[in-house]
Amino acid sequence: MTPSNEDELTQAALQRLDGAPDPRFAQIMRSLITHLHAFVREVDLRPEEWMAGIEFLTATGQTCTDKRQEFILLSDTLGASMMVVMLDQLRASGRGGPPGRPDGRSVTPATEATVQGPYYWAGAPELPCGADIAPGTPGEPTFYSGRVTDTQGQPLAGALLDIWSGDGEGVYDMQVEGAGMSARARIRTDAEGRYWFWSIKPSYYPVPVDGPVGRMLAGIRHHPNRPGHIHMMVSAPAHAPVTTHLFVAGTPYIDSDVVYGVRPSLIVAFEPHPAGRAPDGRVMDQPYWSAHYDFHLQPTAA
Ligand SMILES: [Fe+2]
Repeated sequence: MTPSNEDELTQAALQRLDGAPDPRFAQIMRSLITHLHAFVREVDLRPEEWMAGIEFLTATGQTCTDKRQEFILLSDTLGASMMVVMLDQLRASGRGGPPGRPDGRSVTPATEATVQGPYYWAGAPELPCGADIAPGTPGEPTFYSGRVTDTQGQPLAGALLDIWSGDGEGVYDMQVEGAGMSARARIRTDAEGRYWFWSIKPSYYPVPVDGPVGRMLAGIRHHPNRPGHIHMMVSAPAHAPVTTHLFVAGTPYIDSDVVYGVRPSLIVAFEPHPAGRAPDGRVMDQPYWSAHYDFHLQPTAA
């Protein structure tokens, strides 16, 4: 088919998918072409604007290194990553009903997921409950505690929390040339599903702005910041794992996270305490904070 107008051009591009052996690939490509053609027509894209877009995407790829993923940052700041997270958790919940909303059988909704972000580093040390996972890391000490249960409220012993955050100034270990791991650990719940550990109170921080995504954010006059948060990947056998954050209540940018990661159910009050004996018996010679949060995992078995 030789297209003679705009509609026929779209039809010709879609017809080429007829020979694709993978039906899911064909479905995704069909939708992509349909929306891409509609987008170009809707804004009446000029040749110089098309070229500017090509150059932007080229620069996005060229900015990627083994330590920096500018395309994920682009996806994050366009809301695409969070859309995938939301849909994936809805799908994973299956018969159990949507996470974040009671399904009639569960006594508590599953913990909501959010973006993983670019700073996960596999292989963090496995430490016992009560450990300080951020010794020497800049920041105000914070006692984290809570439980991991299923959506019926039954405690999950031996559940794994894979934890990471930036420091109290918003800097991740991976961003420091040559630095080893800090403010990272894997901790397992005790026989009653409880966890507790020490780290620091995380600060808000900007995503990298010296690349094409930074220029895009400047172009729309949006700040590049994420509100203060600590990352957790929580898992247990026969339960859907959840990759999520705990956000510091009252942190700057809580209402305007540049990557749309905030969910109200993940905002946690950090309580201030004077120096003295902490809940786990540790004697603190300086003021500290505490944060309490219970995680709930959706069973995957019948
Ligand atoms: Fe983060």
